[in-house]
Amino acid sequence: MKTYDDILIDKLENGVCCITLNRPEARNALRTQLLAELSDAFNTLNFDDSIRCVVLTGGEKVFAAGADVAEMASMGMMGIMQDERPKYWASIAAFPKPVIAAVNGYALGGGCELTMHADIIIAGSNAQFGQPEINLGIIPGAGGTQRLIRTVGKALASKMILTGEFINADTALSAGLVAEITQPESCIDRAIELAQKIAQKAPLAVQQVKAALNKSYETSLSDGLNFEREAFVMLAGTDDRNEGLAAFLEKRKPEFNGK
Ligand code: CAA
Repeated sequence: MKTYDDILIDKLENGVCCITLNRPEARNALRTQLLAELSDAFNTLNFDDSIRCVVLTGGEKVFAAGADVAEMASMGMMGIMQDERPKYWASIAAFPKPVIAAVNGYALGGGCELTMHADIIIAGSNAQFGQPEINLGIIPGAGGTQRLIRTVGKALASKMILTGEFINADTALSAGLVAEITQPESCIDRAIELAQKIAQKAPLAVQQVKAALNKSYETSLSDGLNFEREAFVMLAGTDDRNEGLAAFLEKRKPEFNGK
């Protein structure tokens, strides 16, 4: 796999790849180059059958402090209108394999929005989530107003986005934004542990689960149930489904091959 400047790619054992945002001097601010690299990495991992789950982290100190404010300040309205960044965000959102965000320290603005592109968020006890764009005279630009409200509800999302106040890991857990809290130094390891567990499951079923869960965010219950039913029927034609059922009946561990 190729190497990048703003992100580090670490292919681990057992079907997991760890992507680390790597601009510590700017608190991992998401400049366009970083987003382009992230999008390219996800596109590459999409076609890499050896990778079944991705861990996304900023390391032990900070997840990401949002869009690069210096870069944004140099762009006028035309620049923002013609910006290539929405294209990169869209390809991150469209990545079909599960992503687990391991979040330590600040996840602000675009950083908080990036965590919400993950399927599962594991937070270090030092994590802080916020949408402070209002303090800059702007609003969230990568889905914050839409995804946060669907995740934590109107009351907390409105408070966070209108005041710019951060929430800590405990509040994020009780609000349903994060799935688990760990010690900061254990956060990435715990995310990898969960990713390795997911990577052992049948890949096509895992991807259909992700698609169905995401579908529930943007459709009616009846359309969502139809989507789930179609996915369920489609999976009935896979080798892995036959293997999973046979392995259970034969009291052995299944061997899934993604077919
Ligand atoms: N963009 C560019 N540079 C940033 C940055 C950002 N978002 N956040 C931090 N940096 C830089 C600082 O300018 C500073 O650089 P210098 O050393 O060259 O001065 C360096 O990172 C360290 O920052 P601080 O000294 O401020 O570090 P801190 O630990 O005291 O504070 C922080 C950390 C709370 C994250 C603070 O830096 C901060 O508030 N950052 C901005 C957060 C923000 O407003 N994010 C929203 C951006 S807009 C957005 O994201 C829009 C969108 O939806 C897509």
